[in-house]
Amino acid sequence: MSAVPRSLAPAVADTALVLLGTGVVGGALLKLLATPSAERLYLVGAANSRRQIANARGIVPAQVVAQLGQAEPGRDDASLLAALNASGAARRVIIDATASADEAGRHADWLAAGYHVVSANKAATGEALAAWDALKLASHRGRVSYGDAATVGAGLPVLSTLRRLRDCGDRLLALDGVFSGSLSWLFNQFDGSRPFSALLREARAFGYTEPDPRIDLGGADVARKLLILARTAGHALDVADVEVESLVPAQLRGLSLDEFLTRLEEFDAPLEQRRQQAAAEGKLLRFLARLDEKGHARIGLTEVASTHPAARLAGADNLFALTTQRYRAQPLVIQGAGAGPEVTAQALLGDVLALRVGV
Ligand SMILES: NC(=O)c1ccc[n+]([C@@H]2O[C@H](COP(=O)([O-])OP(=O)(O)OC[C@H]3O[C@@H](n4cnc5c(N)ncnc54)[C@H](OP(=O)(O)O)[C@@H]3O)[C@@H](O)[C@H]2O)c1
Repeated sequence: MSAVPRSLAPAVADTALVLLGTGVVGGALLKLLATPSAERLYLVGAANSRRQIANARGIVPAQVVAQLGQAEPGRDDASLLAALNASGAARRVIIDATASADEAGRHADWLAAGYHVVSANKAATGEALAAWDALKLASHRGRVSYGDAATVGAGLPVLSTLRRLRDCGDRLLALDGVFSGSLSWLFNQFDGSRPFSALLREARAFGYTEPDPRIDLGGADVARKLLILARTAGHALDVADVEVESLVPAQLRGLSLDEFLTRLEEFDAPLEQRRQQAAAEGKLLRFLARLDEKGHARIGLTEVASTHPAARLAGADNLFALTTQRYRAQPLVIQGAGAGPEVTAQALLGDVLALRVGV
C-alpha cells in the first residue's frame, strides 16, 4: 500500500484514525487530538449519526464539527474505512464514541479485517457473552487490539489494573464498588435529612442522572460494567448471570417519563425504612456492584459498615475495590470521577497511544 501525500498530517504521524461520535466524549477527544500528545496521530474520518466526512490526507480536528455541519446528509461506514485504507498509515484505528448498538455490532468485523478498535461504547463488551467471545476471536485473527479502557470507570485505570494483576499471576478474590456517578451521589447524600425523591430531583437538575432517571436507578448500566469486569477477570458470565436489584418500584416502571416524574415520592417510604434499618446497625446504604471469587455477580442496595471504602465516598465518585491474593488484607482501591468528557476522552487517547508501545 503506497502512502498518499499527508498534507495535513504531521511528518511523524503513523496512526490514522476514524472517529465515530462527536458528542460529549467525541468532542472532548477532538480537542485532545489537537494537542502535542497526539502528534503521531491523524484523523482521516469522522461521523455523527447523520453525516460524515473523510479525507485520507487528514482532517484538522478543530474543523470537524463545522465540516460535518456542511456535509451532505448520509452515513456509510465503508467510505470511512476506505479513507483509513488509503491513508497508508502503519496503524488504522476506529474509535467508537457512540452508544450505538449497530456500530458495536460491527466491532468484530473491523477487528477481523485488521483495524484496531478503541471504544467508549459498552454495547459490544457489556452485552451478550457471544459478542465478547467474537471480539476476542476477531482481534486474534486480525492481529489487532481492542481498547476498552473508557468503558469502565471512564478515565480510571480499572481494566488495565485488573489485567496487570492477572498477567502477574494474582487472583481476584472479590471486586466491589460503586460504578455509577449518579447512584454514588444519591446515596452519599441520603442521610435522612431530605427525602430520596428530593435528592433525585436535584440530581436530575444537576445533570447527574440520565434525563429518565430510571435508566440509572434500574442498574442496567452498572450491570454492563460489572459484566465487562467479570469477563476481564476470567468469568464467562452472560447477561442473565448478573443479579440486578432495580431501585425502581414495579408500579413506576411502565409509566411515561412525565408521569414517572410526578410520582417520585413513591421511592421515599421503602428507602427511608431501609436507611433506618441500616443506621440502627451503624451501617450506610450504598448501591454496590459485587463479584466474588466464584463469579457470582450482584448489583443492588447494600448495607455497608463505616469502615467499607464505599462509606467514605464523596460527590459522584466511582469506586473499585479489588481484593486479590496479594491484596488480601486491604483491597486495592481505585477511586475518582467515573464519568466526564475529558477523562473519558483521555482513556480513548491512552488506548490509541498504547497501540504504539514497543513499536
Ligand atoms: N459522557 C461520559 O462521561 C461517558 C463516560 C464513559 C463512557 N461514555 C460512553 O461514551 C459514549 C458516548 O457518550 P457521550 O456522552 O459522548 O454521548 P453523546 O453526547 O450522546 O454523543 C453520542 C454521539 O454519537 C453519535 N452517533 C450515534 N450513532 C452513531 C452512528 N451510528 N455513527 C456515528 N455517530 C453516531 C451521535 O450523533 P448525533 O449527534 O447525530 O446524535 C453523537 O455525536 C457512550 O457509549 C457512553 O456510554 C460516556
